[in-house]
Amino acid sequence: MKTLRILVTGGAGFIGSHLCERLIDQGHWVICLDNLFTGNRRNIARLLSHARFEFLRHDVNEALILEVDQIYHLACPASPVHYQRNPVRTIRTCVQGTLHALDLSREVAARLLIASTSEVYGDPAVHPQTESYWGAVNPIGTRACYDEGKRCAEALAVSYARQYDVEVRIPRIFNTYGPRMDEMDGRVVSNFIVQALRNEAITLYGDGSQTRSFCFVDDLVEGLIRFMNADCGAEPLNLGNPRETTIAHIATMIREMTGSSSPIVYKPLPEDDPTRRCPDIRRARELLDWSPKVALEQGLERTISYFREMAGGRGAEPGGRTWMAAT
Ligand SMILES: NC(=O)c1ccc[n+]([C@@H]2O[C@H](COP(=O)([O-])OP(=O)(O)OC[C@H]3O[C@@H](n4cnc5c(N)ncnc54)[C@H](O)[C@@H]3O)[C@@H](O)[C@H]2O)c1
Repeated sequence: MKTLRILVTGGAGFIGSHLCERLIDQGHWVICLDNLFTGNRRNIARLLSHARFEFLRHDVNEALILEVDQIYHLACPASPVHYQRNPVRTIRTCVQGTLHALDLSREVAARLLIASTSEVYGDPAVHPQTESYWGAVNPIGTRACYDEGKRCAEALAVSYARQYDVEVRIPRIFNTYGPRMDEMDGRVVSNFIVQALRNEAITLYGDGSQTRSFCFVDDLVEGLIRFMNADCGAEPLNLGNPRETTIAHIATMIREMTGSSSPIVYKPLPEDDPTRRCPDIRRARELLDWSPKVALEQGLERTISYFREMAGGRGAEPGGRTWMAAT
C-alpha cells in the first residue's frame, strides 16, 4: 500500500484515536487535529512519540491549510450530553467545520471522508434503514442541532462533489462502542458499564424495548478505511452492526458480565429518542466486502476490561482522568 499523509480531524476522540492507530500501523503519516472538546490526550498517549504521528490542537471552525492526501473528518461532539450543551456551536461545527474540511480537500485535491450518522434517519419509519430512506427528523427538537447539522454536512459534501469534483465519502455511522468511550457522556454502553462496575443503579430510559445495533469500534474503523479507499461515488453508505438488541437486554448482559448487583431503574425517554435503529448494510457488503466481525459479547468483554483498568487508574496518562478518583 502506498504511504499517504492523512489528516484525521477529531483524532483524539473515541473513534478517531482508534482510526489514527490503525493508519499508523498501516505505515501512513498521520496528523491528528483536535480541539480536545470531548477528546483527550490520553486517547492518543501511545501515539504522541511516534515519528509518523503529529498532534495539532486546532478548532475546525477555523480554516486550515495542510498538504495531505486524505482527510477523515470526524470532529464533532457525538453524544447528546455534549452536543446539546452548546447547540449553536454544534451546528457551527457540523456546517462551518465541514465547509473548512471541504475547502481544504478542494485546495489540495485530497479525498475526504465525512463522518455522518444514523441520526440523519431520525425516528425512522423504514426498518431496517437503507441509504435510500430520507429519514424522519424533527428539525426543531433538542437533537436537531446534531441531526440537522449532519444532514447539512451531507448536503454540503454532495454539492462539493457535484460542483467542484471533490472526492467525498459519506459513511452513516450507527451506534459504535468500545474502549475509550467517554465514561461521562451518557452513551448507553459506557453508562451501563460504569454504573454496573460501581454497583450503582443502571438507568434505563423508557421501558427498555427500544432497540439499537451496536458495532465494535475495530469493525467500524475497518469499514471507514475500506470506504475511504473504495472506488465509488459520493453516495452515503451505512456502517454499523445489523444485530439489533433491546436496551433492556444490553443492560442485563452488562450486569451479568460484570457480576454486578446493580438494580435497573426506569426513567422517562428523552425527547425524539428513536424507538428502533438497525442498519441495512447490503451496500457495504457489496461495495467493500465488509461486515462486522466482533460479536457483541466479545466487544463488551473488551470494553468492560477497559473501564475496569480505568477504574484501577492503570489506563490514565498524565493530564488524563481516572473516573473512580473523580467521584
Ligand atoms: N460513536 C458513535 O456511535 C457515532 C455514531 C455516529 C456518528 N459518529 C460520528 O463520528 C465522529 C466521532 O465520534 P466519536 O464517538 O469518536 O465522538 P468523540 O466526541 O469521542 O470525538 C469527537 C472528537 O472531535 C473533537 N472535536 C469536537 N469539536 C471539534 C472542533 N470544533 N474542532 C476540532 N475538534 C473537535 C473532540 O474533541 C473529539 O476528540 C463524530 O463526527 C460523530 O458524529 C459517531
